[in-house]
Amino acid sequence: MGCQILQLIIVTVTLLISASYATEYIRPKPRQLLHFPWSRRSSTEPQQVHISLAGDNHMRISWVTDDSSAPSIVEYGTSPGQYSAKAEGESTSYSYMLYKSGKIHYTVIGPLNPDTAYFYRCGGEGPEFQLKTPPAQLPITFAIAGDLGQTGWTKSTLDHIDLCKYDMHLLPGDLSYANYMQHRWDTFGELVQPLASRRPWMVTEGNHEKENIPLVKEGFQSYNARWKMPFEESGSSSNLYYSFEVAEVHVIMLGSYTDYDEYSEQFRWLKADLGKVDRKRTPWLIALFHVPWYNSNTAHQGEGDEMMSYMEPLLYAAGVDMVLAGHVHAYERSNRVYGGKSDRCGAVHITIGDGGNSEGLARRYQTPHPEWSVFREASFGHGELQIVNSSHAFWSWHRNDDDEPVKSDEVWITSLASSGCLADKAPEFRKILLEP
Ligand SMILES: [Fe+2]
Repeated sequence: MGCQILQLIIVTVTLLISASYATEYIRPKPRQLLHFPWSRRSSTEPQQVHISLAGDNHMRISWVTDDSSAPSIVEYGTSPGQYSAKAEGESTSYSYMLYKSGKIHYTVIGPLNPDTAYFYRCGGEGPEFQLKTPPAQLPITFAIAGDLGQTGWTKSTLDHIDLCKYDMHLLPGDLSYANYMQHRWDTFGELVQPLASRRPWMVTEGNHEKENIPLVKEGFQSYNARWKMPFEESGSSSNLYYSFEVAEVHVIMLGSYTDYDEYSEQFRWLKADLGKVDRKRTPWLIALFHVPWYNSNTAHQGEGDEMMSYMEPLLYAAGVDMVLAGHVHAYERSNRVYGGKSDRCGAVHITIGDGGNSEGLARRYQTPHPEWSVFREASFGHGELQIVNSSHAFWSWHRNDDDEPVKSDEVWITSLASSGCLADKAPEFRKILLEP
């Protein structure tokens, strides 16, 4: 009898322990839009300050003023309050139906030293800002979050990124979710300023940047006016696709919503850009765009197929290591994959459209589980990519559990440059990327 009671206790305790391990994280609901006391400040005070790379050793500083006479100058130096250099830039503005933007300033500063803190002031007055330039060599750390919006979850994601030691923010599309209400671009600029004024934000566009009105407005007017990226510096004729090099990484930013077929300007530019990549100088090759090619969520299923059919062979021939996409409001990581199947010389595809926008999470997945999909979960969060050396990188995804960042997925990634795949691909590289 005593033995039976003991057995019963052991079984009960075992069941309780296994039940506690099996408890699933209960994902929170979408949070409300943040409301800002937005009003025009009739002054020359800089607003919405953000920075981005602008060619070798240069940084583009952007800000907005209400006063159209405010000068587009940036004073900067390596000590607080002591500005040993000064640069003058350009400005633009735009109208959208009844809305008239403030004066949008762009000023390129440099040459700057790598991995160095600079102090700067915009327009000759106002507060001092501080930035850090990226390192010239590895290691480098990227923070990545797409589909940000401006909700309570966006704030939570940005707060978590702020806790991370990183060099650059990469954003694979869908920034403000202004959705045609232009003042929401201004509030988004204010929301991200604390981070985007300190580290370069390199962004590409999503569907929420398009904001076209047939016969009235072409797409991407606000995005192009406010988020100028270094497309001219990379030989592109459009702000909607470009590339840059940082540390020992070549990063390609593509447009999911501009022409991509074999006769398009984007296709020609991509082929030429990939053909010039020198893997001795940049052993890592990464691509970002908005609509994922490998997605086993039911949301936006198949939307990336056409772009993939034209461009995946180019990326494969070039030996792209990783592809980061957004659009689907959930997280997913693949094996190295090509042509719909796991392939040791393909790219790792990551969907990270879970920044925290107001549309909520995409919770339904295809079954059965595709063989290439390693990890998938519908939660808000952000990614961190630390490229340690020419052969190894550490990827981690940090879920927003309530308001705490919890590392939920992590993996070491070995570069194709170190795996022998690039040597195997050399004939394909010449045929697909170098032949006219
Ligand atoms: Fe999207």
